[in-house]
Amino acid sequence: MATDFPALQRFAASELFLQADKLEPCILVIFGAAGDLTRRKLLPALYNLVREQALDERFAVIGYSRSPKSNDHYRQVLRDSLEAYSRSQPIDDSVWQAFSRRIAYVEGNFEDPEGYIALRQQLEEFEREIGSEGNRLFYFATPPSAAPVILHRLSEAGLIESGGSEIPWTRVIMEKPYGHDLESATDLNRIVGEVLQEDQVYRIDHYLGKETVQNILVARLGNTIFEPLWNRKYIDHIQITAAEAIGVEGRGRFYEQTGVLRDMVQSHLLQVLSLCAMEPPVSFAADDIRDKRLEVLRSLRQFSNQEVFDHVVFGQYRGYRDEDNVASESKTPTYAAIKCYIDNWRWQGVPFFLRVGKHLKQRVTEISVVFRPVPLCLFGRDDVCEDLEPNVLTIRIQPDEGMALKITSKKPGDEMEVGSVEMDFSYSETYAHPIKDAYERLLLDAIKGDATLFARRDEVEFAWRFVTPILHSWEAATKKQPVFYAEGSEGPVEAENLMDRYSRQWRGIN
Ligand code: BG6
Repeated sequence: MATDFPALQRFAASELFLQADKLEPCILVIFGAAGDLTRRKLLPALYNLVREQALDERFAVIGYSRSPKSNDHYRQVLRDSLEAYSRSQPIDDSVWQAFSRRIAYVEGNFEDPEGYIALRQQLEEFEREIGSEGNRLFYFATPPSAAPVILHRLSEAGLIESGGSEIPWTRVIMEKPYGHDLESATDLNRIVGEVLQEDQVYRIDHYLGKETVQNILVARLGNTIFEPLWNRKYIDHIQITAAEAIGVEGRGRFYEQTGVLRDMVQSHLLQVLSLCAMEPPVSFAADDIRDKRLEVLRSLRQFSNQEVFDHVVFGQYRGYRDEDNVASESKTPTYAAIKCYIDNWRWQGVPFFLRVGKHLKQRVTEISVVFRPVPLCLFGRDDVCEDLEPNVLTIRIQPDEGMALKITSKKPGDEMEVGSVEMDFSYSETYAHPIKDAYERLLLDAIKGDATLFARRDEVEFAWRFVTPILHSWEAATKKQPVFYAEGSEGPVEAENLMDRYSRQWRGIN
């Protein structure tokens, strides 16, 4: 396993990392180094951090995977993926050349102790060369089932000796789905807890790293006008939509085992819901925020078997069963609409409608907070009063990041006519800075030791406590089929019915 370490020393003196003195040095080891996530997200995120001089100069990456590859071959694979997936283009060759000298590849499978010996040698070599002071960040870009064996092998190889907070530190980032139901997630947490302390574990949910998801709390708690209204007295209901235009994109095998509930609802949607509904924390420290998110998850009303089918619509796009590695009779849902309740003082009786799916009309992720109507229409004529629409605050998470507030205003003219108008703020029009990818923020936070935007052990379990009965009811109902919807549509009509029963409507997916 030849590496070109002298080049690393030369590079350490280069100017690329000069602004990064706030961060500690470390070596990042990626398990699943040849996989999709590494190529599409992790490497582009790291490249952009290096390009923006956001990392300490004593930083290196080791990819660990089972296929035989030389360092050069691996670097070429990564370079190709940057061309395809980096948010900044064209790729700056001088940045890449310098960065790529700090990337090494170690061949090994997850079970094989030999691979971990080679990994240890590579880590120690890097540590000597660049002086990273023994700080190690392991990224499990692997299926959840691989985590226990990797953890045990790392521990046996003496690679997890330090804690998460002292120096040198060892931290582990774990990808979702974290388990596949409550029982397996609890088991996984127990196994993880045998090897790691909680402050070493960073359970990633990339939605928490999105700029506009972080804006939810800023909008609520940074403006006097919203928080006093943020409760059952003034809010009629809240809609959270995560619509994707793409399908399963060649991930049929993975998707057959997850489906939309495990893939999107248990993690991303419930985290967004928690941020919308949580109480103000006493500070922005990681555990203060996570405590408040947790309270929401604990207050989510659980459905009985019969309630599941009154509150959840399971959809599947037409054509899903023809995807590669998808069963011809598959009933895996690619779409879900859920009406749920948070049983606490603030939200009693306010429905939260969640809607998420693949192959819908547009890619739109947004939250709409629909306020109650005014108590009395004072504008006389019935037809004027009929035009009064409730206020809606929309927080657009992607792709057109921003916020809009729908308000009622008088139309110009001698007659008393009213209409709805929208005050709109768009990130791209207001700020010159491009919005960073969530993985950039999350990788930096893990290196800094800030776990605020990562899910804690109890959050993951309570999210599964809500989702598991839904999954079990669906999986046990062998005779029920998902409702089918056309690709490019706004989803199945049954989702409209879920709202109709409450005399409300979904916002259009536009
Ligand atoms: C991932 C899911 O976690 O999130 C994918 O596994 C989904 O199925 C993706 O496409 C959506 O993320 P984003 O950032 O594109 O909204």
